[in-house]
Amino acid sequence: MVLKCIECGRKYDENDLRYRCECGGLLEVVTDLDRAEDVFDGKNVTLWKYKSWLSVKSRVSLNEGGTPLYKLKNLEKGFGVEIYAKNEGANPTGSFKDRGMTVGVSKALELGMDKVICASTGNTSASLAAYAARAGIKAYVLVPSGKIALGKLAQAIIYGARVVPVRGNFDDALRVVVEASAKLGVYMLNSINPFRLEGQKTIALEIYDQLGFVPDNIVLPVGNAGNISAIWKGFKELYEKGITEKLPRMVGIQAEGASPLVRAWKTGEKFKPIEKPETVATAIRIGNPANWPKAWRAVKESGGLFESVSDEEILQAQQLLASKEGLFVEPASAASLAGLIKLLEIGEVDRSESYVLITTGHGLKDPNVVLNRFTLPEPIEPTLDAFKEVIR
Ligand code: F0G
Repeated sequence: MVLKCIECGRKYDENDLRYRCECGGLLEVVTDLDRAEDVFDGKNVTLWKYKSWLSVKSRVSLNEGGTPLYKLKNLEKGFGVEIYAKNEGANPTGSFKDRGMTVGVSKALELGMDKVICASTGNTSASLAAYAARAGIKAYVLVPSGKIALGKLAQAIIYGARVVPVRGNFDDALRVVVEASAKLGVYMLNSINPFRLEGQKTIALEIYDQLGFVPDNIVLPVGNAGNISAIWKGFKELYEKGITEKLPRMVGIQAEGASPLVRAWKTGEKFKPIEKPETVATAIRIGNPANWPKAWRAVKESGGLFESVSDEEILQAQQLLASKEGLFVEPASAASLAGLIKLLEIGEVDRSESYVLITTGHGLKDPNVVLNRFTLPEPIEPTLDAFKEVIR
């Protein structure tokens, strides 16, 4: 397999230690589709079932992937459309990042690297820390000071990563990480690293494997814009291999306060970063998504779209998923449902089509968002009478 620049087409050996082309363009792994096996029988779904589609051998694994795909029956009744959720919170560290890290950290070992690094809004750092621990190598994670969800921070700390808070946001932290990886000999595992996206493309393979068909639309939150690019790559490879006959539309949802792609999409202006991104969905509080050119292509080629949602819409969708479907996801993940609801309301999407939401991270990652919105009632006396009063 080789790495290929998505801008100029230049090719590099897959073991070249580089993250971008000479021309500055993003790189992608060219999958050897002759090697890729048709294993799509709906059974025993796990990430490494698709190893013939991946560019590394499984070495560092915590049994990632094989996440449930739920049909959201109660929401379907309410909204009158076919809706599924691919629940990525069920991964070992509670987010889809584990798919990228099992492949990415395996690649680090293949390349002989013993130090790995990432910038993160939280989940990437938790996941990198866990896989580095499993591999017995050192992890450095740079996170926006004070702006990362409690659970994610706890994870990164206990897995033993060196957690470095940065005075600034994700975009600032990523700038430092890119420089550090170039100059200090540490392997970067942000999603600019094309091997990360190889792992994450298995979301597409699993959706097809589990459903037995390609849904009309994939709706997901967009932050650094890696996942939408990865999932599109997965569906395209299934199609190019001749296993599927259809491609889904990719629908990317950003939070209003952090929506540079939506702005460019709607105004037709050139992509421009947002200086001070803000949103309650801290996972996607990103103003300058590094993978934006790949994400743009995914949405363009697939005939999809970008849309933004407000923090209030995100929190309402989070509550809906939990209270109607028993699915507790973090705010960024709920942006997918919030986006679908908005698009249904404004008539931008077709009610006769099917929608798969990617719920990217577990709700327990960020319990404060819930606890800040709801208050418990006063305690009751420990008597039946007191309880009877409550339920009267
Ligand atoms: N949902 C969650 C829960 C995330 O943690 C992220 C990204 C996204 C969606 C967006 O995915 O970046 O591929 O477009 N989190 C990164 C992190 C940035 O550092 O954990 P993306």
